[in-house]
Amino acid sequence: MIEEIEEYLRDFEGELAQVLTRDDLNRVKGKYAGRKSRIPLFLERLKTLPLEERRVVGRRLNEVKVLIEERLREKEAELSRKERKREFVDLSLPGRRHPLGAFHPLRLVMDEIVAIFRSLGFRVEEGPEIETELYNFEALNIPADHPARDAQDSFYLGGGFLLRTHTSPVQIRVMKKLTPPFRVIVPGRCYRRDAFDATHSPVFHQVEGLVVAPGISMGDLKGTIEVFARRLFGEKRKVRFRPSYFPFTEPSAEVDISCGICQGAGCRSCGGQGWLEIMGAGLVHPQVFRNVGYDPEKIQGFAFGMGVERIAMLKFGIPDIRWFFENDVAFLSAFKGLG
Ligand code: DAH
Repeated sequence: MIEEIEEYLRDFEGELAQVLTRDDLNRVKGKYAGRKSRIPLFLERLKTLPLEERRVVGRRLNEVKVLIEERLREKEAELSRKERKREFVDLSLPGRRHPLGAFHPLRLVMDEIVAIFRSLGFRVEEGPEIETELYNFEALNIPADHPARDAQDSFYLGGGFLLRTHTSPVQIRVMKKLTPPFRVIVPGRCYRRDAFDATHSPVFHQVEGLVVAPGISMGDLKGTIEVFARRLFGEKRKVRFRPSYFPFTEPSAEVDISCGICQGAGCRSCGGQGWLEIMGAGLVHPQVFRNVGYDPEKIQGFAFGMGVERIAMLKFGIPDIRWFFENDVAFLSAFKGLG
């Protein structure tokens, strides 16, 4: 009989191991532990055994009975644990949000400007933000009394260095590095000792352009800038060139686009002018060519420089330059999905 009890225990263990659900468990429980199991039958048969054997078999039968009940409780706890875990997967919960970032409006505009010029055959060049006074001023033919040279206007670092006040010194670097003909576009950050107000920031961005090849004329400059301005601001815009002065160009011009709100008639947004200034430009000054060892009799070129903040303000209708630098998420999220 002891053999039968051991076998009973082994069968029980075997079936218990297969249990996956509460139904399985109840079935195994009914078969091995309930009133309808073989336990009462074993107890019945125990009475027929001789005293000595009855004690041994009885002790074992009792152990097996207790063991089966214990194993059933363990299994039951295991199932409950699994059910609780399963309940935890609440499919109605809102998903976890992974907030998407956005490109900064200045980055968007700078990339767009560069992309337009790249499509016109310009290559991208960059220069250092810490520049020599030589490249920032002298080589560009900027006279000693030019306002940018004043300590009030530039961040001087000593030893002939300063934080560049414009991207134009990269013209010098590029001309020293490359052999004409070439077309380059130069995006970059610049610094001036300006008050931080609605239209000024001590840190700002420019995009510089330079084309050098024999026979380049004002016509090439006008054609290129018109194509650029219409692509950036829309085909309906008119482009106007006004005579101006820059030490490193001759002739020099200031480029305006017609106001997108009044179409040139004059309104509050353009200060009644009908036109908005977008950049400075001109033909490269012969002295600048001489400064880099080019012969101005043999080679010509045009250059231009624009402020990215100003262009972005015009393009997006942003009234205050400080908005670009305040890291206000409400403002920055307006540019989500662009670029
Ligand atoms: N560097 C000038 C500035 O910061 C902008 C500029 C004007 C750049 C005319 C040019 C140019 O290349 O031809 O105000």
